[in-house]
Amino acid sequence: RYRKTIIAGNWKMNKTLSETRAFAEELKPILPKGKWCDVVLCVPYVNIPAAIRLFKDCRVAIGAENCHYEATGAYTGEVSAEMLKELGVKYVIIGHSERRQYYNETDLTVNKKVHAALEVGLRPIVCVGESLEQRELGVTMELIAYQVKCALSGVSADKLRHVVIAYEPLWAIGTGKTATAEQAGEVCQAIRAVIRKLYGARVARSVTIQYGGSMNPKNAAELLAQPDVDGGLIGGASLKPEQFVEIINAAN
Ligand code: G3H
Repeated sequence: RYRKTIIAGNWKMNKTLSETRAFAEELKPILPKGKWCDVVLCVPYVNIPAAIRLFKDCRVAIGAENCHYEATGAYTGEVSAEMLKELGVKYVIIGHSERRQYYNETDLTVNKKVHAALEVGLRPIVCVGESLEQRELGVTMELIAYQVKCALSGVSADKLRHVVIAYEPLWAIGTGKTATAEQAGEVCQAIRAVIRKLYGARVARSVTIQYGGSMNPKNAAELLAQPDVDGGLIGGASLKPEQFVEIINAAN
Protein backbone atom coordinates (compact mmCIF):
# COMPACT_ATOMS: atom_id res chain seq x y z
CA ARG A 1 0.00 0.00 0.00
CA TYR A 2 1.24 3.44 -0.91
CA ARG A 3 -1.12 5.24 1.45
CA LYS A 4 -3.10 4.81 4.65
CA THR A 5 -6.83 4.25 4.68
CA ILE A 6 -8.39 6.76 7.06
CA ILE A 7 -11.86 6.39 8.56
CA ALA A 8 -12.84 9.72 10.09
CA GLY A 9 -16.03 10.64 11.89
CA ASN A 10 -17.36 14.19 11.73
CA TRP A 11 -19.71 14.78 14.61
CA LYS A 12 -20.72 18.25 13.39
CA MET A 13 -22.75 20.05 16.11
CA ASN A 14 -23.66 16.90 18.01
CA LYS A 15 -22.97 15.45 21.46
CA THR A 16 -22.51 17.17 24.80
CA LEU A 17 -19.64 16.34 27.12
CA SER A 18 -21.64 13.62 28.90
CA GLU A 19 -22.72 12.16 25.56
CA THR A 20 -19.08 12.18 24.46
CA ARG A 21 -18.16 10.17 27.56
CA ALA A 22 -20.99 7.71 26.96
CA PHE A 23 -19.92 7.26 23.33
CA ALA A 24 -16.32 6.52 24.36
CA GLU A 25 -17.47 3.96 26.93
CA GLU A 26 -19.53 2.19 24.31
CA LEU A 27 -16.99 2.41 21.49
CA LYS A 28 -13.78 1.37 23.22
CA PRO A 29 -14.75 -2.24 24.08
CA ILE A 30 -15.94 -2.93 20.52
CA LEU A 31 -13.19 -1.06 18.67
CA PRO A 32 -11.36 -3.50 16.36
CA LYS A 33 -7.67 -3.80 17.23
CA GLY A 34 -6.27 -4.18 13.69
CA LYS A 35 -4.06 -1.41 12.38
CA TRP A 36 -5.08 -1.64 8.75
CA CYS A 37 -6.59 1.81 8.85
CA ASP A 38 -6.30 4.97 10.90
CA VAL A 39 -9.35 6.03 12.86
CA VAL A 40 -10.17 9.67 13.59
CA LEU A 41 -13.03 11.40 15.38
CA CYS A 42 -13.57 15.09 14.67
CA VAL A 43 -15.59 16.55 17.52
CA PRO A 44 -16.86 20.00 18.58
CA TYR A 45 -14.15 22.25 20.03
CA VAL A 46 -15.46 22.14 23.60
CA ASN A 47 -15.31 18.34 23.72
CA ILE A 48 -11.75 18.05 22.41
CA PRO A 49 -9.83 17.94 25.74
CA ALA A 50 -12.19 15.28 27.10
CA ALA A 51 -12.10 13.27 23.88
CA ILE A 52 -8.30 13.29 23.91
CA ARG A 53 -8.27 11.94 27.48
CA LEU A 54 -10.98 9.38 26.79
CA PHE A 55 -9.29 7.95 23.68
CA LYS A 56 -5.69 8.29 24.84
CA ASP A 57 -5.07 4.57 25.22
CA CYS A 58 -6.62 3.46 21.94
CA ARG A 59 -6.21 3.89 18.18
CA VAL A 60 -8.64 6.79 17.80
CA ALA A 61 -6.95 10.11 16.97
CA ILE A 62 -8.89 13.30 17.66
CA GLY A 63 -9.61 15.96 15.09
CA ALA A 64 -11.29 19.37 15.06
CA GLU A 65 -14.03 20.41 12.64
CA ASN A 66 -12.56 23.80 11.73
CA CYS A 67 -9.86 26.30 12.68
CA HIS A 68 -9.03 29.93 11.94
CA TYR A 69 -6.38 30.83 9.38
CA GLU A 70 -4.58 33.45 11.46
CA ALA A 71 -2.20 32.41 14.21
CA THR A 72 -3.51 34.89 16.81
CA GLY A 73 -5.44 38.13 16.95
CA ALA A 74 -8.74 39.95 17.33
CA TYR A 75 -11.07 37.23 16.00
CA THR A 76 -13.71 36.87 18.69
CA GLY A 77 -15.04 33.34 19.00
CA GLU A 78 -12.39 31.74 16.82
CA VAL A 79 -9.82 29.01 17.52
CA SER A 80 -6.32 28.82 16.02
CA ALA A 81 -4.55 25.76 14.67
CA GLU A 82 -1.86 26.12 17.31
CA MET A 83 -4.42 26.01 20.13
CA LEU A 84 -5.67 22.71 18.73
CA LYS A 85 -2.18 21.33 18.24
CA GLU A 86 -1.24 22.02 21.85
CA LEU A 87 -4.25 20.02 23.08
CA GLY A 88 -3.05 16.97 21.15
CA VAL A 89 -5.33 17.29 18.13
CA LYS A 90 -3.97 15.50 15.03
CA TYR A 91 -6.43 16.38 12.24
CA VAL A 92 -8.64 19.31 11.28
CA ILE A 93 -11.47 19.37 8.76
CA ILE A 94 -11.08 22.33 6.40
CA GLY A 95 -13.73 23.73 4.06
CA HIS A 96 -16.58 21.36 4.84
CA SER A 97 -19.49 22.25 2.56
CA GLU A 98 -21.53 23.32 5.59
CA ARG A 99 -18.78 25.85 6.46
CA ARG A 100 -18.69 27.03 2.84
CA GLN A 101 -22.49 27.29 2.72
CA TYR A 102 -23.36 28.79 6.13
CA TYR A 103 -20.17 30.62 7.13
CA ASN A 104 -19.02 32.06 3.84
CA GLU A 105 -15.86 30.02 3.56
CA THR A 106 -14.33 30.43 0.15
CA ASP A 107 -11.60 28.67 -1.80
CA LEU A 108 -9.28 31.44 -0.61
CA THR A 109 -10.00 30.99 3.12
CA VAL A 110 -9.79 27.22 2.64
CA ASN A 111 -6.30 27.66 1.19
CA LYS A 112 -5.25 29.91 4.09
CA LYS A 113 -6.58 27.41 6.62
CA VAL A 114 -4.73 24.54 4.93
CA HIS A 115 -1.51 26.51 5.33
CA ALA A 116 -2.32 27.40 8.95
CA ALA A 117 -2.92 23.74 9.81
CA LEU A 118 0.22 22.46 8.07
CA GLU A 119 2.30 25.22 9.65
CA VAL A 120 1.68 23.80 13.14
CA GLY A 121 1.77 20.14 12.13
CA LEU A 122 -1.97 19.37 11.97
CA ARG A 123 -3.22 17.18 9.14
CA PRO A 124 -5.93 19.03 7.19
CA ILE A 125 -8.87 17.01 5.83
CA VAL A 126 -9.81 19.24 2.91
CA CYS A 127 -13.40 18.88 1.71
CA VAL A 128 -14.40 19.39 -1.91
CA GLY A 129 -17.64 18.57 -3.68
CA GLU A 130 -20.23 19.63 -6.22
CA SER A 131 -23.89 20.52 -5.78
CA LEU A 132 -26.65 18.66 -7.60
CA GLU A 133 -27.06 21.60 -10.01
CA GLN A 134 -23.36 21.56 -10.82
CA ARG A 135 -23.43 17.80 -11.41
CA GLU A 136 -26.42 18.16 -13.72
CA LEU A 137 -24.66 20.95 -15.63
CA GLY A 138 -21.80 18.52 -16.28
CA VAL A 139 -19.10 20.61 -14.59
CA THR A 140 -18.25 18.29 -11.66
CA MET A 141 -14.71 17.44 -12.75
CA GLU A 142 -13.77 21.04 -13.59
CA LEU A 143 -15.19 22.30 -10.31
CA ILE A 144 -13.46 19.66 -8.21
CA ALA A 145 -10.14 20.29 -9.98
CA TYR A 146 -10.56 24.02 -9.30
CA GLN A 147 -11.35 23.46 -5.60
CA VAL A 148 -8.38 21.11 -5.17
CA LYS A 149 -5.97 23.48 -6.94
CA CYS A 150 -7.15 26.45 -4.85
CA ALA A 151 -6.92 24.50 -1.59
CA LEU A 152 -3.38 23.29 -2.33
CA SER A 153 -1.97 26.47 -3.82
CA GLY A 154 1.49 27.13 -2.35
CA VAL A 155 1.64 23.79 -0.50
CA SER A 156 5.01 22.07 -1.00
CA ALA A 157 5.29 18.44 -2.09
CA ASP A 158 6.83 17.66 1.27
CA LYS A 159 3.86 19.10 3.18
CA LEU A 160 1.34 17.50 0.83
CA ARG A 161 2.06 14.10 2.39
CA HIS A 162 0.12 15.31 5.43
CA VAL A 163 -2.94 16.47 3.50
CA VAL A 164 -6.09 14.36 3.24
CA ILE A 165 -8.71 15.20 0.59
CA ALA A 166 -12.36 14.33 1.19
CA TYR A 167 -14.70 14.19 -1.78
CA GLU A 168 -18.19 14.98 -0.54
CA PRO A 169 -20.89 15.55 -3.16
CA LEU A 170 -23.28 18.04 -1.54
CA TRP A 171 -26.33 16.12 -2.66
CA ALA A 172 -25.17 13.07 -0.71
CA ILE A 173 -24.53 14.77 2.64
CA GLY A 174 -27.07 13.89 5.31
CA THR A 175 -29.58 12.96 2.63
CA GLY A 176 -29.31 9.19 2.80
CA LYS A 177 -28.54 9.40 -0.92
CA THR A 178 -25.05 7.99 -1.47
CA ALA A 179 -23.00 8.44 -4.59
CA THR A 180 -22.63 5.13 -6.37
CA ALA A 181 -19.28 3.46 -5.86
CA GLU A 182 -18.51 4.25 -9.52
CA GLN A 183 -19.33 7.96 -9.10
CA ALA A 184 -17.23 8.18 -5.94
CA GLY A 185 -14.37 6.23 -7.51
CA GLU A 186 -14.43 8.33 -10.67
CA VAL A 187 -14.15 11.67 -8.85
CA CYS A 188 -11.52 10.41 -6.38
CA GLN A 189 -9.49 9.17 -9.36
CA ALA A 190 -9.84 12.60 -10.99
CA ILE A 191 -8.65 14.26 -7.77
CA ARG A 192 -5.55 12.06 -7.79
CA ALA A 193 -4.95 12.99 -11.43
CA VAL A 194 -5.05 16.68 -10.49
CA ILE A 195 -2.50 16.06 -7.72
CA ARG A 196 -0.34 14.05 -10.14
CA LYS A 197 -0.26 16.97 -12.57
CA LEU A 198 0.73 19.35 -9.80
CA TYR A 199 3.17 17.19 -7.81
CA GLY A 200 4.05 14.11 -9.87
CA ALA A 201 3.08 10.45 -9.65
CA ARG A 202 4.99 9.51 -6.51
CA VAL A 203 3.34 12.20 -4.39
CA ALA A 204 -0.11 11.54 -5.90
CA ARG A 205 0.14 7.87 -4.96
CA SER A 206 0.78 8.73 -1.33
CA VAL A 207 -2.22 11.03 -0.72
CA THR A 208 -5.26 9.66 1.10
CA ILE A 209 -8.53 10.57 -0.64
CA GLN A 210 -11.75 9.91 1.26
CA TYR A 211 -15.36 9.74 0.19
CA GLY A 212 -18.06 11.32 2.35
CA GLY A 213 -21.83 11.53 2.04
CA SER A 214 -24.24 9.11 3.69
CA MET A 215 -21.57 6.44 4.10
CA ASN A 216 -22.96 3.70 6.33
CA PRO A 217 -22.32 0.07 7.30
CA LYS A 218 -24.29 -1.13 4.26
CA ASN A 219 -22.50 0.79 1.53
CA ALA A 220 -19.03 1.28 3.07
CA ALA A 221 -17.35 -1.88 1.75
CA GLU A 222 -18.37 -1.21 -1.85
CA LEU A 223 -17.27 2.45 -1.71
CA LEU A 224 -13.97 1.56 -0.03
CA ALA A 225 -13.27 -1.13 -2.63
CA GLN A 226 -12.78 1.57 -5.26
CA PRO A 227 -9.03 1.83 -5.94
CA ASP A 228 -8.88 5.59 -5.37
CA VAL A 229 -11.20 5.73 -2.35
CA ASP A 230 -8.88 5.52 0.66
CA GLY A 231 -11.33 6.00 3.46
CA GLY A 232 -14.43 7.84 4.53
CA LEU A 233 -15.54 11.03 6.20
CA ILE A 234 -18.61 9.94 8.07
CA GLY A 235 -21.28 12.17 9.55
CA GLY A 236 -24.46 10.55 10.85
CA ALA A 237 -23.09 7.00 11.15
CA SER A 238 -20.13 8.21 13.26
CA LEU A 239 -22.52 9.19 16.05
CA LYS A 240 -23.40 5.55 16.69
CA PRO A 241 -20.58 3.36 18.05
CA GLU A 242 -21.78 0.09 16.43
CA GLN A 243 -22.21 1.71 13.02
CA PHE A 244 -18.84 3.45 13.21
CA VAL A 245 -17.17 0.13 14.11
CA GLU A 246 -18.86 -1.64 11.20
CA ILE A 247 -17.46 0.96 8.83
CA ILE A 248 -13.97 0.56 10.34
CA ASN A 249 -14.27 -3.19 9.78
CA ALA A 250 -15.35 -2.60 6.17
CA ALA A 251 -12.05 -0.75 5.60
CA ASN A 252 -10.13 -4.01 6.04
O1 G3H B 1 -18.42 15.19 6.95
C1 G3H B 1 -19.27 14.32 6.77
C2 G3H B 1 -20.22 14.45 5.71
O2 G3H B 1 -20.77 15.71 5.63
C3 G3H B 1 -21.18 13.33 5.55
O3 G3H B 1 -22.25 13.40 6.43
O4 G3H B 1 -22.49 10.94 6.59
O5 G3H B 1 -24.19 12.45 7.62
O6 G3H B 1 -24.00 12.25 5.11
P1 G3H B 1 -23.30 12.19 6.44
